[in-house]
Amino acid sequence: MQHDKVLILDFGSQYTQLIGRRVRELNIYSEIHPFNKIPTKIEEYKAVILSGSPYSVRGNEALHPDLSDIRGKTPLLAVCYGAQYLAHFSGGEVAPSNTREYGRANLSFIKQNEIFFKGIHEGSQVWMSHSDTIKDLPANSILMASTNDVKNAAFRIENEPTYAIQFHPEVYHTTDGKHLLKNFLVDIAGLNQDWTPQSFVEETVEALQEKLGNDKVVLGLSGGVDSTVAAVLLNKAIGKNLYCIFVNNGLLRKNEFQNVLNQYEGMGLNVKGVDACDRFLEALKGIHDPERKRKAIGNAFIEVFDDEAHKLEDVLWLAQGTIYPDVIESVSATGGPSATIKSHHNVGGLPDFMKLKIVEPLKALFKDEVRRVGATLGIDPELLGRHPFPGPGLGIRILGDITAEKVRILQEVDAIFINGLKSWGLYDKVWQAGAMLLPVDSVGVMGDERTYEKCVALRAVESTDGMTADWVNLPYEFLQKTSNDIINKVKGVNRVVYDISSKPPATIEWE
Ligand code: XMP
Repeated sequence: MQHDKVLILDFGSQYTQLIGRRVRELNIYSEIHPFNKIPTKIEEYKAVILSGSPYSVRGNEALHPDLSDIRGKTPLLAVCYGAQYLAHFSGGEVAPSNTREYGRANLSFIKQNEIFFKGIHEGSQVWMSHSDTIKDLPANSILMASTNDVKNAAFRIENEPTYAIQFHPEVYHTTDGKHLLKNFLVDIAGLNQDWTPQSFVEETVEALQEKLGNDKVVLGLSGGVDSTVAAVLLNKAIGKNLYCIFVNNGLLRKNEFQNVLNQYEGMGLNVKGVDACDRFLEALKGIHDPERKRKAIGNAFIEVFDDEAHKLEDVLWLAQGTIYPDVIESVSATGGPSATIKSHHNVGGLPDFMKLKIVEPLKALFKDEVRRVGATLGIDPELLGRHPFPGPGLGIRILGDITAEKVRILQEVDAIFINGLKSWGLYDKVWQAGAMLLPVDSVGVMGDERTYEKCVALRAVESTDGMTADWVNLPYEFLQKTSNDIINKVKGVNRVVYDISSKPPATIEWE
């Protein structure tokens, strides 16, 4: 890659990924590596950023990497824990703070005309989140800025391109955070801002052509953004040598299989639609437990995909739509999520027996970048703006066991809800929405008849990454109309409820 790169060393802060995104929003390529796995070819990076951390530099946990190959040689910006680490190991003093150092604060410049603060006004709001504080600066430091409660809020080391800030430039509440990162990366470290979706497409296509030559590649399309963008990119690189397989597991949204298949064909993809509804229903018969359902769906998918892949001759590669957060998560400083709440079966790929080499053209991109690349590739904005949909589909939205009739009911309900969101202009304001079919029959009355039918729950959430989420305050008029439509039009449902739980403690899906 011909672009300047930034290395972000992760000490386990919840904001590390945000640093990476902010840098990339400046059209500068960044990579996140755990603090204890510093890349050997450090000269490939034109700047280094140290992240924050939940740990204390005074603690016994060994978050103390050797920075001697970096410090003084490559422009360095140390953030929060990073700044404390720099101070602690260069003769300064870090101690527990006795004033409140969480939340908003405002900068006072101690030294005027610092390039680091170029174009930023005195009083600019920053975001603090730390419990230790830097009491004494390290040797040869120049204090640049303070806040009311934090004297050593920003400093640099004399005659070195080494900068340190106690606040977080990456979070939204630091009003000029991106500007500060630009001052550091462009004006101080001299990086070029030339990493754009267009350049990504051109370079990736070239790299894929070189890597794959005349080899054949197989890819499983899901209808989602990541696999679609990966397919279009590969199609641009190797054309008909890309064989796409789109499996109907019978748990997709109403009419989705045919609509999406038509859309794929319209994009010029070499795609085979495989209708395997019965096979999945058979595999799920009588299973109630959510994790067993996920396993059954995952296994059935692998069987179908494997059957189809074996019908193709001489395929050497399996392409996947893995994106950067999946990669970082699997190597993160803190080792990823501590407990498996749900096994998201699409992470982890296919088993070894397929013996294919793996190609993952999006593995350096964040989700929003995948969307921008997709737009550059001319993919329909409606497809790119689709809500996330779980791999096991409606299978984990039908609580309890799954039958063809239950799938039909839920598809109808879901279609009314989602089409309603679209026609009321609410779809793009919601991060994810769907309906759950509950294992509850309740009494109702229609005309003069007593009914005893199913209950459905509607769920719409706001989120940025699905890790945390809040329910959306949809207009009452919309909920009223939707509930009415569902009960009147979907045979077998006589009650609709709206889910008002946030995540945590609830999750987005009910299973
Ligand atoms: P939860 O329910 O864990 O969901 O709050 C977070 C996000 O993950 C999606 N999800 C899945 N995606 N396979 C998937 O591909 C799964 O088994 C699965 N379970 C949940 C969910 O739709 C939401 O976007």
